[in-house]
Amino acid sequence: MTNADAACVHLTIDGRSAVVEAGSTVAAALVVAGVSGTRTSVSGQPRAALCGMGVCQECRVMIDGRAHALACQILCREGQVVWTTAATASADAANVASGTNVANGTNVSNGTNRPNGTTTTGTR
Ligand code: FES
Repeated sequence: MTNADAACVHLTIDGRSAVVEAGSTVAAALVVAGVSGTRTSVSGQPRAALCGMGVCQECRVMIDGRAHALACQILCREGQVVWTTAATASADAANVASGTNVANGTNVSNGTNRPNGTTTTGTR
């Protein structure tokens, strides 16, 4: 391990590997990974980190199975798994369209597990 390796944290964001500098927040990791949104509002509008200080709640994501975690307030940890609502919603839509069963966290089309194991309607 080099000093450069020691200063990095490896995590998974929406099923894809990401590497960020140690001490980065999850919100920063989302930006580095090119993820543009964190969640969707109840009316379906896209949301993303806004205040960066724990006030607006727009950065809520699922981190290691914990829903509604504030990405701007949580530091990245080695092996951390982050899901945005936008990613899970699009995975659900894709699986409904393809007839893939996503119940109980079974693999979906991209080979990653659903974070909450919920069942979508219209699955086979
Ligand atoms: S960006 Fe506002 S609470 Fe996280």
